[in-house]
Amino acid sequence: MLLPAEIEQLEEDFRLIFLWKERDPEATILENASDILAIISSLRPVRRTMIEALPNLEIIANCAVGFDNIDMRAAKERGVAVTNTPDVLTDDTADVGFLLMLDVARRAVEGDAYVRAGLWKNGPLPLGVSLSGKRVGIVGLGRIGRALARRAEGFAMDIVYHGPREKTDVSYRYYADLKEMAGDVDFLVLTCPGGASTHHMIDYEVLCSLGDKSFLVNIARGSVVVQDDLLMALSNEMIAGAGLDVYDSEPDVPRELFSMDNVVLTPHIGSATFETRTKMGQIVVDNVRAHFEGLPLLTPVGI
Ligand code: 8YV
Repeated sequence: MLLPAEIEQLEEDFRLIFLWKERDPEATILENASDILAIISSLRPVRRTMIEALPNLEIIANCAVGFDNIDMRAAKERGVAVTNTPDVLTDDTADVGFLLMLDVARRAVEGDAYVRAGLWKNGPLPLGVSLSGKRVGIVGLGRIGRALARRAEGFAMDIVYHGPREKTDVSYRYYADLKEMAGDVDFLVLTCPGGASTHHMIDYEVLCSLGDKSFLVNIARGSVVVQDDLLMALSNEMIAGAGLDVYDSEPDVPRELFSMDNVVLTPHIGSATFETRTKMGQIVVDNVRAHFEGLPLLTPVGI
């Protein structure tokens, strides 16, 4: 969420309610319903019920590039503006995708635990697999997908992608069929948006195609993957492993994952650097200010 410097900027002009500090956030919303003009959110759901309970709501400024947490239809119906924070988080999020690929393939986290537990003297860590020369399949060649592809180029990887349509400005091979692509890649990396169009796109069949020599990396949304299918694929070693930054009902993470050596788990840290969170917060502040000063929004999103 917002860092102190951006919160201070907002406090100059607005009375802020920090819902995460409230014992009963719903009651607080209802008590202040007619005073609430703006919602600042990130990953928590902004449901129709909330949008409809606030008669004077004018803007929802999401501190995230994704906005699948917001009921966009309800916002549109009520004429509520919605903004996000694109671009500034692209590189950091792509870095985390790459970090997960490297970690899970080269067993870095497992190796760290191995050293700390004093196991090295008993013998070396089992071998990992190379990234160089391997094929990465990117699901969603948007800003973050392209930034990941650029990193993969630096590692001499072959890049292919799947998405709703072929791009005319890249030379990477396009697969219209996700299952077919999964069967041809060593790493399947999810960088697509969340929401209805990608919900449960990665299921048992796709994971079967991916196969026991290949890895899944998810820096998109937990909702893109059928979590139970992934747990089964990992525990039966149907796939080689997974690097996960996002989960279905985060911050709750399935306990089954904790004991698996073939997974690397990070707590949704794609944009979690001081630099990027500062830039994201500033976009939120600037959008809110622009809205109430009657100026054009910096980064509006709509349906
Ligand atoms: C989170 C993200 O919003 O931008 C997105 O869509 O998923 C992240 O940047 C951020 O981590 C706040 O929790």
